[in-house]
Amino acid sequence: MDNPRTDERGAAPSPSNRGGTNGNGQPFLSDVQTLRERARQHLGEGAVTPSYSTDVHRSIEILQAVLATEIVCVLRYTMHAVAATGISSQGVKAEFAEHAKEEQEHVWQVAERINQLGGKPDMNPEGLATRSASQYGGEADTLVEMIKENLIAERIAIEHYRELIRFFGDRDPGTRVMLERILLVEEEHANDMHDLLISHEGKALER
Ligand SMILES: [Fe+2]
Ligand SMILES: [Fe+2]
Repeated sequence: MDNPRTDERGAAPSPSNRGGTNGNGQPFLSDVQTLRERARQHLGEGAVTPSYSTDVHRSIEILQAVLATEIVCVLRYTMHAVAATGISSQGVKAEFAEHAKEEQEHVWQVAERINQLGGKPDMNPEGLATRSASQYGGEADTLVEMIKENLIAERIAIEHYRELIRFFGDRDPGTRVMLERILLVEEEHANDMHDLLISHEGKALER
């Protein structure tokens, strides 16, 4: 993704507007001296520097919901990996277990990001299912029902993360890039579940 950064009117910074401002009174490109001075202020804020251009509390609140979504995904895939039964379940169990591992990596990434922004990751099991966008999927009994629950959960996560990527945009590129990386994995997960569903239901799904 090598699109040049654009300003609020959609124009890429060019040599002619290097000395201009972005409309918030901040120059497009700060000189080294200014960057050094700004970085030395408010050291207690860690990675949140003066150019952080959105409400950091709001960002943390959003990421707590993402964290809950990822934790619920770990729980759902882990439970399904253990509980799946049937003659053709071995490959599916392995796939669920693999996804559980990757969802756990997302948990770490999101929790670390919350910490970088000055928040404390909310791992409280109380209210977890309410904070999460995706669902636990505990009612699924058969292999096909489990695969479907996971496909639905992945599709919810994909929709949610696409919206959040647009929200963070240039306001918080660090969080946006993290979510973009996670989104790519969720898209793979959805694709894997779709393939499993076709192989276990024996027909293509309606589009
Ligand atoms: Fe995930
Ligand atoms: Fe996923």
